[in-house]
Amino acid sequence: MEKRVVEVEKFTFENNYEVTLRPSSFDEYIGQEKIKKNLQVFIKAAKKRGEVLDHALFFGPPGLGKTTLANIISTEMGANLKTTAAPMIEKSGDLAAILTNLEEGDILFIDEIHRLSPAIEEILYPAMEDFRLDIIIGSGPAAQTIKLDLPKFTLIGATTRAGMISSPLRDRFGMHFRMQFYNEKELAIIIKRAAHKLNKPCLDDASAELAKRSRGTPRIALRLLKRVRDFADVKDMDKIELKLSQFALDELGVDIRGFDEMDLKLINLLINSKGKPIGLGTIAATLSEDEGTIEDVIEPYLIANGYIEKTARGRVATAKCYDVFKLTPPYYSKGLFDE
Ligand code: ADE
Repeated sequence: MEKRVVEVEKFTFENNYEVTLRPSSFDEYIGQEKIKKNLQVFIKAAKKRGEVLDHALFFGPPGLGKTTLANIISTEMGANLKTTAAPMIEKSGDLAAILTNLEEGDILFIDEIHRLSPAIEEILYPAMEDFRLDIIIGSGPAAQTIKLDLPKFTLIGATTRAGMISSPLRDRFGMHFRMQFYNEKELAIIIKRAAHKLNKPCLDDASAELAKRSRGTPRIALRLLKRVRDFADVKDMDKIELKLSQFALDELGVDIRGFDEMDLKLINLLINSKGKPIGLGTIAATLSEDEGTIEDVIEPYLIANGYIEKTARGRVATAKCYDVFKLTPPYYSKGLFDE
C-alpha cells in the first residue's frame, strides 16, 4: 500500500477506543491546567481578531496528550486538522505537497518534529513566517527560486525531546508548552470517565490503584484499564473492583508504584553501582534499549518523581529511590565527617 504523508483522522478498529476515550473539548480534558488556560485565551483572541492561531510547539514525554490537545485546538478553532510525523517527510517535495494542499485556517500537526532534516526545516521557515513556499528549480548558478503564496495556517509541532529541536525552528513557534506528568487524582478521574464510556464502571479505590500504577501518563492508564476490563469480563464482573485491579495489575507485571520492567531494570542497575554514576551508553547496553528511548520514555518519569538524577558523570539513584526499596543509600552508610 502506498505510504500517505498526511493522515486525515485515520480510523481503525485498533484505535477506535483511543478515539472515543479521547476528550474532544477543553471541558472534558483533565489536567495540564496552565496550558489549557493559556490556550483558551490565545484561541479566543485569534478568533476575535479573525486570524489564524499562532504556531504552537508541545514538548513532553509520550502519552501525555499532545495529539489530543492538537485535536481540541482544531475543534475550538473550527479548523481542519491534518496530521503527519517528521519521519514521513523525507524529501522537500513531500513537505511542499503537504503545504500546497493546505487550505486557509487549516492546522498542520507534525509529530516528532525534532526529526526533520535541516533541508526540510529550511523550507518550513518561510512557510511559518511569511506563509510562503520557496521552490528552488535547478542547481548551481542557473538555479532559480520560485515563490509561492501559501494559505495562512497554524503549525502544531510535538516533540519528546526539547533539547533536540534546533533553535531557529523553536524560535518560529509563537507558543511553547511543556506537558507535565499527571497527578494520581487527575488520572483517577480520567480512568473513571473512560471506564464509564467502556460500560464497565470502576470503583473509586480501583481507579485510585490504577492511577498509582500509571507512571503519571493517561495513555498508560487507559491501556491498563482496558486490560483490567478484560479480566473483569472473563470473570463476569460488571464493575472493576480494587481486588480485581490489584490482581490484574500484578499479573501484568506492573509494580505497586507503577514501575514497569524497564524502570526496575534501570533502578536495579543504579542501585547495584553503589553510588557510582552510570553513563547513558552503559545503561543502553545493559538494558538492550536504545539511548533515545531511555532518555525520552523511561527516564523522564523517574527524574520528575525524584527516583533518579542526571549528573555530569552519569545517572545515580537518589536517597528516595533507596528508601522506596528499603535500602540504605551508599553515601549515607557513612557520615560525611566520619573517618
Ligand atoms: N483521556 C486521555 N487523556 C485525557 C485527559 N487529559 N483528560 C481526559 N481524558 C483523557
